[in-house]
Amino acid sequence: MNAFNSYYIFLLIATFFFSCTHDTEPSVYNTNGEVYNSAYRPQIHFSSKYNWINDPNGLVYYDGEYHLFFQHNPFGSGWGYMSWGHAVSTDLIHWTQLNVALKPDTHGDIFSGSVVIDKNNTAGFGENAMIAIYTSAGSSQAQSIAFSTDRGRTFIKYRDNPVLKNPGKPDFRDPKVFWHELTQQWIMSLATGQTISFYRSPNLKEWTKLSEFGLGIGAHDGVWECPDLFPLTFEGKIKWVLLVSINPGAPNGGSGTQYFIGDFNGTTFTTDAISDPTWLDYGKDNYAGITWDNIPELDGRRIQIAWMNNWEYAGAIPTYSPGNNGSRSSMTLPRELSLGRNSQGHLFLRNKVVSEIERIASEWKTVTNENIENKKNFTLDLGNKKAYHIQLTTTLSKEQTLTLSLQNATGETSQAQINNVSERIYFYRNNSGNVSFSDLFTKMSFGPFSYNSDPVTLDLYIDQSSVEIIANDGALTLTNQVFPASIYDRISIQTNIGSVPVLVKLRTFDSIWK
Ligand code: FRU
Repeated sequence: MNAFNSYYIFLLIATFFFSCTHDTEPSVYNTNGEVYNSAYRPQIHFSSKYNWINDPNGLVYYDGEYHLFFQHNPFGSGWGYMSWGHAVSTDLIHWTQLNVALKPDTHGDIFSGSVVIDKNNTAGFGENAMIAIYTSAGSSQAQSIAFSTDRGRTFIKYRDNPVLKNPGKPDFRDPKVFWHELTQQWIMSLATGQTISFYRSPNLKEWTKLSEFGLGIGAHDGVWECPDLFPLTFEGKIKWVLLVSINPGAPNGGSGTQYFIGDFNGTTFTTDAISDPTWLDYGKDNYAGITWDNIPELDGRRIQIAWMNNWEYAGAIPTYSPGNNGSRSSMTLPRELSLGRNSQGHLFLRNKVVSEIERIASEWKTVTNENIENKKNFTLDLGNKKAYHIQLTTTLSKEQTLTLSLQNATGETSQAQINNVSERIYFYRNNSGNVSFSDLFTKMSFGPFSYNSDPVTLDLYIDQSSVEIIANDGALTLTNQVFPASIYDRISIQTNIGSVPVLVKLRTFDSIWK
């Protein structure tokens, strides 16, 4: 973000100030679960017990645990004093928050980055050392490393940081590193303004520039951030996917994530670029997502999680708990990324909720299975649950639209619409609940959805403050926050003309917080 540049001086002063006055942060070990019951608090999504979070960082699987580090201000509910918060999970669904892993130092704040497991001890910190590669954001941005030999519980910063100095660029951040088996070296993808630069290293300490990607390709209406390069196997071949977040410049305004599918030969990434830009998610609230490193081969999935917010209004959303230490922002549900082929024969990135969600799901119940004309209302039997899954299957003709409205007793409404006339799926949240904190929040979002006469399935994951729409098994997704006074516990289904066959199923989710 360019706004950061003017913020650096302030940050240096703030870092000094906070280190003098805020020597104790709220304890994440406090067993009082009350904070997870307050208004808007996500029940099936990760949010910090207290205070501000943004990008997921350092996603790595190691020794039975999925690690989720994240941009975090341990001292307040706004962006600042950027540190790495830390949580672990054994199933990607239930999270235990641990102590803050990395705090600002003389090199600056700790901006986004990644974590790898150094199986061959290339860096000399020990076999299987967990090594964080992050941006030190001081007077300029540079890359630093820190290591842990106790499963991420404590980190020691490398004495010769930074390991990759700034060559004079205002934006030089968010290193995502992986071990490239074929060329036996570490590869770093780094956001460098309007491009992604690739570097290589034998030991995570010395870095050599390989190439740069992106000039004249993709969306460029904002700064490029948080890259991630990884392979996916499809139809027996390996393709490489590059995720690039951009802010602003997303298709529906503000922050969004584009992707490129192509090849990487150990030096250069080239995109197949059938048409670009292509977007991971068309909602307003899916940003800075990266994928887990070191997932066991037997599992083989590429799993991603993103920050469920948008820099347009991130600092203004209602917090999930009251007081100075109000928790603000959450992550999306973890998503499995895979390749698919669309009706024009082009590859695309499919993105759907991981199957581990089953662990907290009840049995399915049918809400309705009938032909609907005009409009019909249904109440949802949620028991005392605050999160649920609606699955709607329908078949529409070229002239038809179907609108699914989610409502609560006070009439607050969010609407998802499959529109075959415009060949789009829309999400409206202008009357969804508390929208007064930002005019930009009320804007609808939409994504392209080519019409064909096959059945359409929408999976809606609804939590106290979000609606994630997954269309046709992840062919299109829209992730959006909403802040209703109480959970939507009724729905209506409406069509523009004629009658539509509709099957709606419901299952509820247990809270992930105890
Ligand atoms: C993306 C981002 C990153 C940066 C971090 C700072 O949201 O702007 O580029 O490292 O946030 O918190």
